[in-house]
Amino acid sequence: MAGKPVIIDCDPGHDDAVALLLAVGSDAIDLRAVTTTFGNCSVEDATRNALQILTLAGATDVPVARGAAGALSGLSTLGNYVHGASGLDGPPMPAPAFDIVEEPAPAMMRRVIEKSSEPVTVVATGPITNVAQLLLDSPESKEGIREIIFMGGSTERGNHTPTAEFNTYADPEALDVVLQSGLPVRMVGLNLTHQALAAPAVVERMAAMHHTVGQTCAAWMGFFGASYNRIWEFDAPPVHDPCTVAALIDRDVIGWREAFVAVELEGKWTRGTTVVDLHGRYREQAPNAKVAITLDAERYWDLVLKSVDRLGRQS
Ligand code: BDR
Ligand code: CA
Repeated sequence: MAGKPVIIDCDPGHDDAVALLLAVGSDAIDLRAVTTTFGNCSVEDATRNALQILTLAGATDVPVARGAAGALSGLSTLGNYVHGASGLDGPPMPAPAFDIVEEPAPAMMRRVIEKSSEPVTVVATGPITNVAQLLLDSPESKEGIREIIFMGGSTERGNHTPTAEFNTYADPEALDVVLQSGLPVRMVGLNLTHQALAAPAVVERMAAMHHTVGQTCAAWMGFFGASYNRIWEFDAPPVHDPCTVAALIDRDVIGWREAFVAVELEGKWTRGTTVVDLHGRYREQAPNAKVAITLDAERYWDLVLKSVDRLGRQS
């Protein structure tokens, strides 16, 4: 059976990188395009990183387009303090074996959606600016979108600020467009991804693979883990972004709750914070999203490692 048509909009980033490997290595996903955004680094660095990751994965036929250099507001918040100067610091990466398609990310998304014979799933693992821009510029594209699944926000705490998660902080206006689009939306926030820890046993499984793809993943976890330990005192890094892709491959890997979700656009201290009404306190607000709550971590890592190993053996 052919995989689900998917576009991944990302800001790679160590965990975005693993999300790309998971998608490329799975038969359940038909990766139709990768679009890039500012976020963990500049959009130029994110684009080079995406080309290098896809080169490592042997997926040089996946079209890549560069997207937003900053949020809808014009501001550009960067996460280099987590991912290093390049956005993907750590192990050496292969030189890109292919180049981007010279068209803006929203234009490529629109083209891929129009061309597809079945609705396309849009996965967003960085600030969600490109997706919002697509919905603002080409609302007719909505008809060709099955759902938008994004990593961002939280039902609980933040990371970039005490209450706001990085991706939602970096472009809250864009997330607001997505949440109000009327499309099926799934939110994978920190409350979920903090269950996706690359514990030593997981990193050992990567390092024990006798190929560059596995060993590169292990080294990424080393860099990412050191950042998470230094900044947030985590013993192991939460590997956020692949949770979105895993949910598309295996419907039982994540448990969901329907809820009304909003994003704070103004608060003096809380801009970019997601407000998730899990208990229906805003009675007049109908649910507008499915919110990830529980992760089967063992199943998650088995999926990720299977893709990584498959790509490594092919290379
Ligand atoms: C998100 O921010 C970035 O550091 C990660 O790539 C992830 O998308 C987690 O807050
Ligand atoms: Ca990301």
